[in-house]
Amino acid sequence: MSITRRTMLKNSVGMGLGMMMSTSAYERAGGGSRGQDADEPAAVPSPEPRIARFERMAFGMFVHWGLYSQIGAGEWAKHMQGIATDEYMKLMKTFTAADFDGRTLARLAKRAGMKYITHTSRHHDGFSLYDTRGLSKYDVINTPAGRDLILDFVEGCRVEGIVPMLYCTTLDWTDPRFSSDFPAYLQYLRDSVEILCTNYGPIGGFWFDGNWSRRDADWEEDALYAVIRKHQPEAMIINNTGIGSGGKVGHPEIDSVTFERGRPEPLDRSGWSKYVAGEMCHTMNFHWGIAVNDFNYLSPAHVIEELCLCRRAGANLLMNIGPTATGGIPEYEAAALKRVGDWIVLHGGENCPLYRGRPCGISGQEHDFALEMDGEVFLFVFNLTSTSNTQAHGDARGPGPRTFTGVNRQFSRAIWMDNDEELTVENDPDNRRLVLHATRYPYGTNTVVRIARLVP
Ligand code: GLC
Repeated sequence: MSITRRTMLKNSVGMGLGMMMSTSAYERAGGGSRGQDADEPAAVPSPEPRIARFERMAFGMFVHWGLYSQIGAGEWAKHMQGIATDEYMKLMKTFTAADFDGRTLARLAKRAGMKYITHTSRHHDGFSLYDTRGLSKYDVINTPAGRDLILDFVEGCRVEGIVPMLYCTTLDWTDPRFSSDFPAYLQYLRDSVEILCTNYGPIGGFWFDGNWSRRDADWEEDALYAVIRKHQPEAMIINNTGIGSGGKVGHPEIDSVTFERGRPEPLDRSGWSKYVAGEMCHTMNFHWGIAVNDFNYLSPAHVIEELCLCRRAGANLLMNIGPTATGGIPEYEAAALKRVGDWIVLHGGENCPLYRGRPCGISGQEHDFALEMDGEVFLFVFNLTSTSNTQAHGDARGPGPRTFTGVNRQFSRAIWMDNDEELTVENDPDNRRLVLHATRYPYGTNTVVRIARLVP
């Protein structure tokens, strides 16, 4: 059952797990606002290494692919169109996976600056992309594809240095035990997860989805997560709380809260017994599985803004694509994500503050914000365009002064990361404020969100 963060805090304080205060280097150097008040906030626990690693990955690719991709009307097509299971499973006869290549997927992710991919292993329709070793007849081994696609995916990721993670549905529309014998169904779910834990080498995380379908049921989560902790102790455990319940922690083993298509707010982790990360999943249009008549696509600019706004809250962005019927990558998604990758390269590539930068108590106006990385402060400036209002988020504000608060150090100047231009700053230490004089884009440039590095 889902409980709120606050309830979790009450229930779990004192349960152990490193109650060390976690502060950024900036705050240790006297920056930020923490610890200034007479009422010291309760300690924030330090993230366990796997959770800290997950946060540093920042940007991941979500992939929804399955039998439904042949219908081309979203991953809920079976349910929405009321297709009977026998009829629906005829799609297995034409599932060739002719264009599926885990390595190509991983290469695109890398090119886009993404560090991990969370791939569906089985969705609500009950069809598995891996060899279930006889647990289910609805698996890829019983299709013309005839090969374990999760193995292909994981191996492709390994070659390209991308961390593979697996989406596992907990809701099942086709397994009769889901309705008639829930404990037996849950055993099937655990056995499925055990297969995924033991046959593919290290997996970066398991992303469950569907508990929201029966909020009051006993999903036997202790037993499910124990399978993962036993075989894959370094894997992240995530369980999607669904639209409208973003940011809730449901179980003490959960390593990251989810924000399904809802922009994350910073988590106040003071007093928590365990540091839990945050991740927003979002999709390139309005479906997760391919939907050929969905034209409502995000632009690269929109994805850049979403990525930055997730990091503003310290959360990751998991950006979804829906491959074609045969497992190919749709052109638009590939092109848009590559453009996002270009933006990351322009802002430092591997050293882009989006990866290791963390919120540090400095805030800007509207969407502007700051991150601290290796003791340096980076200001993220939105809506610098003055000649149009095509920004995905907020109105054009144009160049000029941008105010940041919560600043406890003085800086001599700032430098745009994209072109090394020097910028003037005004310090106002009495009010812990700083004003950045943001210049206009040089003609020929528009980078959507601009990053300035503050120089002491
Ligand atoms: C929802 C949908 C599901 C999708 C998921 C991704 O829970 O039911 O189709 O996989 O969101 O976050």
